[in-house]
Amino acid sequence: MDKYVILANGVKMPTLGLGTFKAENGTSCYDAVLHALKVGYRHIDTAMGYGNEESVGKAIKDSGIKRDEIFVTTKLYPSQIGYKSAKINLEKSLKRLGLSYVDLYLIHWPSSNLLVNTHTWQAFEELYKEGKTRAIGVSNFNIYHLEHLLASCEIKPMVDQVELHPYLTQIPLSKYLAKENICVESYGPFAKGNVFTDDLLKELASRYNKSVANIVTRWGLQKGIIMIPKSVTLERIESNFDVFSFSLTDEEICQIDNLNLGKRLYTDPDNCPFCPAKEYEL
Ligand SMILES: NC(=O)c1ccc[n+]([C@@H]2O[C@H](COP(=O)([O-])OP(=O)(O)OC[C@H]3O[C@@H](n4cnc5c(N)ncnc54)[C@H](OP(=O)(O)O)[C@@H]3O)[C@@H](O)[C@H]2O)c1
Repeated sequence: MDKYVILANGVKMPTLGLGTFKAENGTSCYDAVLHALKVGYRHIDTAMGYGNEESVGKAIKDSGIKRDEIFVTTKLYPSQIGYKSAKINLEKSLKRLGLSYVDLYLIHWPSSNLLVNTHTWQAFEELYKEGKTRAIGVSNFNIYHLEHLLASCEIKPMVDQVELHPYLTQIPLSKYLAKENICVESYGPFAKGNVFTDDLLKELASRYNKSVANIVTRWGLQKGIIMIPKSVTLERIESNFDVFSFSLTDEEICQIDNLNLGKRLYTDPDNCPFCPAKEYEL
């Protein structure tokens, strides 16, 4: 199992990163990111919508680690989807982050108006060609959204970040993404805390003398999924990174796969409150 995936354009992306959704801008997010970088993380996932890009950027700067050793993802806020808006808002994100480029820029949510996704993607392709982002991708896109986008794009998305955990293993989507050479990235790996009381996961954790968080993260990594568990608790940030010293067996991976309930705990992309079919300024 590798610590990196190679995206379709050859860019190396660390498979384990720190999520920052609900990490409050200010001391909490700053300390979390700084600590993560200190203990070895080299991948930070933020978003315009998380309101914490300033703290992420400041921690990166203060870490003293060279910019090109850290992989930074940010996302275009759902209500800001659109061609012109994508360009304006990446500039604003870069300014808040204090960076001249990000490593991955994602459309945070698909619009229910498929043409808007296509137009937004054109801006993403241009931003990529201008070097403002080293890779481009999508988030919360299902097969239907992707099929439409792939039919018209010049450059395919390199990543799709979706809800994925032991109760929502996303097998059909993952197969589709593998066929299209698009990497799968999991969000919400701990299934809103439900994994922590799961008997199988607790048993595996005690078998390996690891935490349930470690078991779930290792399960994803061994399946080739990019994992970005979030924590603002310094001990958890450190212990969540301890996933490279053990391996689950194929049988154990299958057992965890079998926990799948097809259960979505976050917003359904088909029913997104951020994406009304409204008039967009393209
Ligand atoms: N693209 C999207 O639409 C989207 C949507 C949601 C999330 N995301 C991204 O994916 C990342 C991960 O998802 P998420 O933040 O929703 O959920 P998550 O990573 O599954 O879970 C985070 C929660 O688990 C707790 N936690 C972390 N490590 C723990 C441990 N070892 N033991 C017990 N509890 C632990 C955290 O608490 P503390 O922080 O208090 O330690 C926090 O409450 C986000 O942060 C964000 O970057 C993307």
